[in-house]
Amino acid sequence: MNDKERVAKQAAKLVEDGMIVGLGTGSTADYFIEKLARRRIKEGLRVNCVASSVVSLLKAQQLGLPMIAIEHLTELDLYVDGADEVTAEHTLLKGQGADLVKEKLLARASDQFIVLVDKSKMVKNIGDRFLIPVEVMPFAWQLVKQSLKQFGGHGALRQNSNGSGLAVTSYGSLVLDMAFEKDLDCAELDAILNATPGVVEHGIFYGLANRVLLADKGTVQELELEE
Ligand code: 5RP
Repeated sequence: MNDKERVAKQAAKLVEDGMIVGLGTGSTADYFIEKLARRRIKEGLRVNCVASSVVSLLKAQQLGLPMIAIEHLTELDLYVDGADEVTAEHTLLKGQGADLVKEKLLARASDQFIVLVDKSKMVKNIGDRFLIPVEVMPFAWQLVKQSLKQFGGHGALRQNSNGSGLAVTSYGSLVLDMAFEKDLDCAELDAILNATPGVVEHGIFYGLANRVLLADKGTVQELELEE
């Protein structure tokens, strides 16, 4: 069992009977979906799930998990997802996929958001390993890019995986992958991006994670919050 699978198994044990559970997107979230589906079959665990992406929806449906459409949901008990970067303060960077809008909606709406990572995802500052994805309305990308220049922001539109055109998110937006040269902390950057017209969503998940489970060389521990 690899570290992603191990941390997913641990998270699946935290699901309680009757819960509404949000399913994240990515390889770690995929393991969580498998482990949850197994508990449902083996233990008769009763859950209803909501997916953050079409990929997760299809996987969960194939494994027999009962699904609720996000449109029918006003709250959920638990949201479980991976991340690309995590700081000691539990700020996350997400969005290497194309499902930021639903991921952040579910993270915000859930009573508890549990993040599953391995040690390679730990960073000192958000943006240390990845560019920051900024999902923009297609017609707004130039103006958003220009507006973020005053904060030292520079970047480019994300290309699709085979390089034949632009990446389009599941919400139908484009993505600017940005770096910021000014010394801004996560809270400042989060506030700037939230307040920029034309930005649909962005990959900084600030103040959203309740628990971070960290897998490292065969063990899983909870990451203590550093304030
Ligand atoms: C998708 C995400 C993923 O959770 C993130 O990319 C981590 O993926 P993986 O579990 O495959 O390492 O944010 O938008």
